[in-house]
Amino acid sequence: MGLAQQFGHPSGFLGAVVGRGMAKGNAELSRWVAQQASAHHDSGVERVAELGPGPGVGLEALLAQFPEAQVWGIDVSSVMLAQSRKRNRLAVSAGRLTLLEGGVSALRAGAPADIVMANHVLYFWRDPVAEMAQIRSLLGPRGLLAIGYQLKQNMPAMAQRRFPPAGHQLYDTDDEVTKLATTAGFGSVKQIVKGSADAPEGRVMLATV
Ligand SMILES: C[S@@+](CC[C@H](N)C(=O)[O-])C[C@H]1O[C@@H](n2cnc3c(N)ncnc32)[C@H](O)[C@@H]1O
Repeated sequence: MGLAQQFGHPSGFLGAVVGRGMAKGNAELSRWVAQQASAHHDSGVERVAELGPGPGVGLEALLAQFPEAQVWGIDVSSVMLAQSRKRNRLAVSAGRLTLLEGGVSALRAGAPADIVMANHVLYFWRDPVAEMAQIRSLLGPRGLLAIGYQLKQNMPAMAQRRFPPAGHQLYDTDDEVTKLATTAGFGSVKQIVKGSADAPEGRVMLATV
């Protein structure tokens, strides 16, 4: 498996190394998206899920941000689930965090969710409208989808070069991402940029049912 594929489904020794790199490189965005989700959901958050938590920094942030909530972490990679488990061992043993191997359909375990967060996962969905529509169907009536991502031109050179040939989808504009959510049936969609517009550190799309 090449390096680009490792980001979409980390496995083996290289996958574990990539996971440790993501824990450092993506931590700030993960924490910021969790804060944005909290700021944009009025109250009463009881069920929160993260799709593709990778090494589990975002789960750690969600557990801290929503101390009353039950949290689910769902990832296709067993190597990443092991890192998420290690990073959030206390929450797992306390029964607050459930980790499941799988894709969007495994979200059923946490449905109806108040918030679903997915950071740097969008690029790996072959049919993002179908994935978002499925997430929408598993959100509660006041549910919020928070998608953290980076536009193609702001990504590291390696990703810009190697992701498309590996079959990963990169996006040039926020409008393209918004259109996916509205086509999937989301009612209201908002984008926020982290950092300056010239050198964004990432962005979030917040979409409500
Ligand atoms: C680039 S990593 C991002 C990890 C973490 N969210 C972060 O920002 O550091 C993408 C993660 O999503 C997982 N993933 C990819 N496609 C997925 C899917 N359809 N459902 C759930 N997880 C998925 C991968 O296994 C990997 O852990």
